Amino acid sequence: MAYASFRSIGAYVPKKILSNKDLATMVDTSDDWITKRTGIKERHIAAKEEFTSDMGVKAAELALERSGLAKEDIDMLVCATISPDYFCMPSTATVISAKLGLKNVTAFDISAACTGFIYSLSIAKAFIESGMKKNVLIIGAEKLSAITDYSDRGTCILFGDGAGAAVISATDNKAEAIIDVHTGADGEYGDLLMTPNGGSGSAHDALEQESSSCFMQMKGNETFKVAVRTLTKDVVEILEENGIQSDAIKHFIPHQANYRIIKAVGDALKMKEEQVVLTVAKYGNTSGASIPMAINDIYESGRLQKGELMLLDAFGGGLTWGSALIPFSPK
Ligand code: ACO
Repeated sequence: MAYASFRSIGAYVPKKILSNKDLATMVDTSDDWITKRTGIKERHIAAKEEFTSDMGVKAAELALERSGLAKEDIDMLVCATISPDYFCMPSTATVISAKLGLKNVTAFDISAACTGFIYSLSIAKAFIESGMKKNVLIIGAEKLSAITDYSDRGTCILFGDGAGAAVISATDNKAEAIIDVHTGADGEYGDLLMTPNGGSGSAHDALEQESSSCFMQMKGNETFKVAVRTLTKDVVEILEENGIQSDAIKHFIPHQANYRIIKAVGDALKMKEEQVVLTVAKYGNTSGASIPMAINDIYESGRLQKGELMLLDAFGGGLTWGSALIPFSPK
């Protein structure tokens, strides 16, 4: 049987920084408020001419180089994004495949908001274990600044841009295999975080729509409570089902939405400080890109070593959620 292994990681962060102090000149807020309520100090913003696909390409090039594979070896590309280059088509995954020069790939986007990377992981794992694909490039890429309303202080303080990518490859060595991936959804919570306009649900007359129609809206406080509950429950389940204790986890890598959410979940799971990976202060919430960007951070700082067990955990608009237990398995 073929197993799926997490072979390499890469990320890209745009140059421009938007600090809390910058935001305080745009809306009624302060560095102190944002820091206390979210733990975020700054976020990166893509240039006007820099698309989600461009950031995805840069992250993917790094992951590909670190995998030791050639472009021709990649047979599938999945891009998780809620800020695609184009509203309906072509998909950002196909744009990325063209920019990377990948010829023989299945390429498509998935929309699962901040859980997108974990959903992509589950798709890669399933395709590899079924024998249909051998090397899958999964990308989380977001230009959230393109769908953020910078006059809404309840949301604009949270989000940033960036991309992360990983190569998932077939292996016959079970010790290298992704142990488990959980994914779930509950559409009853769909109104907590949404872009209410711009789709067929609102487009009675496309001409009537405002240019701001794709902006995100969020019920922050309710989202916060559901997030803590969902993230904690999902981790307890995946650990129990796989007979793994939390102290066996070397790196707990939750979706980077808000420091207070991460702290509440970490405490509920009795995670030690050194187990919890935190990047929210410097990147803010980059939705589907947040987890691979965080993995790349510990990789580049030398903290992530071969064989170490990672526990990923995310929730996002939809509502969607997911978790994954993964040994880092570079060649
Ligand atoms: N600056 C100053 N004051 C503010 C700001 C701001 N940026 N935003 C809100 N406030 C005010 C409110 O108006 C309110 O004032 P009032 O008491 O006079 O009415 C007060 O602060 C408290 O507002 P709350 O909304 O209750 O603040 P809360 O502590 O919940 O923090 C926050 C808000 C940071 C948005 C928090 O709810 C949160 O992080 N929620 C989770 C959001 C999240 O993770 N979303 C991502 C989902 S993932 C995805 O799919 C993209």
